[in-house]
Amino acid sequence: MNNFIFQNATKVYFGKGCVKEYLACLTKPFQTIMLAYGGGSVKRNGIYSEVAGILREAGKIIVDFPGIMANPTYAKVQEGARLARETQADMILAVGGGSVMDCCKAAALAARYQGDVWEDFWAHPGVIDVEPLPLGVVVTVAGTGSECNGGAVITHEEKKIKTGRDYPKLNPRFALMDPTYTYSVPVRQMVSGGFDILSHIMETYFSGPDDDNVSDDIMEALMKSVIRNLRAAVWDQEDYTARSNLMWDSTMAENRLIKLGKKCDFQCHNMEHQLGAYTDCNHGCGLAVLHPVYYRHIYREGLPKFVRFAENVWGISREGKSDEELALAGIDALAAFIREMGLPTTLKELGASRDQLKEIASSCGISAGSYKKLTHKEILEIFQECYEEKE
Ligand code: NZQ
Ligand code: ZN
Repeated sequence: MNNFIFQNATKVYFGKGCVKEYLACLTKPFQTIMLAYGGGSVKRNGIYSEVAGILREAGKIIVDFPGIMANPTYAKVQEGARLARETQADMILAVGGGSVMDCCKAAALAARYQGDVWEDFWAHPGVIDVEPLPLGVVVTVAGTGSECNGGAVITHEEKKIKTGRDYPKLNPRFALMDPTYTYSVPVRQMVSGGFDILSHIMETYFSGPDDDNVSDDIMEALMKSVIRNLRAAVWDQEDYTARSNLMWDSTMAENRLIKLGKKCDFQCHNMEHQLGAYTDCNHGCGLAVLHPVYYRHIYREGLPKFVRFAENVWGISREGKSDEELALAGIDALAAFIREMGLPTTLKELGASRDQLKEIASSCGISAGSYKKLTHKEILEIFQECYEEKE
């Protein structure tokens, strides 16, 4: 894939060497930069020293904001906002994956907002009438697509709620995306991020309206790309073509483009987020456990689309099969891919305990865009079905 520049609300600089080439120029208007990152991978793989070196050479004051955890908490958001205010940072640079980017989006808002951002924006959507601190991102793992939207998923630990909101004002100003930065992502995290991409596409694809629309065609191409390139990247973790495709697939899935004209489901995300709020499980792994079981619950209500998924995404032949058999064969192919990638298949593996399931199920949001509107009772059935492998 050749390097290119793409712009929606976020301007994307994509390709090998893009950080070296563009970071100094992009940070020119700012003086004090809060450099945010996760648990330390960027220190081990050299990304931190490359980024900090460029900023130092450009004469910037760097304020470190380390330790952003997977599934970022509201407490961490407040810590970031406080630090930005105290140091008078005039921009935040998030270097990491979805967790770092999301925490920084919320901190960028909280740093400039007088009230409580959880109560006013995450507990229920509000209208943002303040200008958040400028935010730029350097993406180090493909998955969430957070680099090109205003979405930020935050966990309120005491309230046991993990929820996301998408505000255009929180779109990063720029996203630097160098696929080679993802070479060091552990395989388990790579396949989890890959499954998150697939999930974002499926959660959009399996929703109305189902008349001929280019979004569904684009999504079939994207799903095939994720499946093919994830296999290639598992085989060779430094396959630049595969890493490039995965990185751009993840952006394409969540830059709002494919959602145009679609209702969107995101019931699996609603369920996974609450599993995360209770167990702190890995996002993509939680989704991998839920998707096949959820689809076996709803496929009858969206049968033609599940048939199309089986034929167009998995290449399953219709020969001798009823629509229902074909739809189920597509879901089976998805489940087989999850196993092939070594992703978990049970909630037990994610660390959930059986006696928590009822409480978690009743805390889940219900999607209005699903082919079949679930009840909390049915969510509990889904959780119980995927709790552990059947004998
Ligand atoms: O913390 P460090 O040490 O940096 O390690 C991270 C972390 O352990 C590691 N990692 C990242 N880049 C690496 C690397 N390790 C080696 N080399 C690299 N280059 O990967 C681990 C996971 O990172 P994380 O940021 O948590 O992963 P991901 O990008 O999957 O983000 C998950 C979070 O995003 C939310 C999820 O719910 C979860 O909280 N989501 C955000 C969305 C959005 N804003 O649009 C949409 C998604 O549906 C999702 O809900
Ligand atoms: Zn996701």
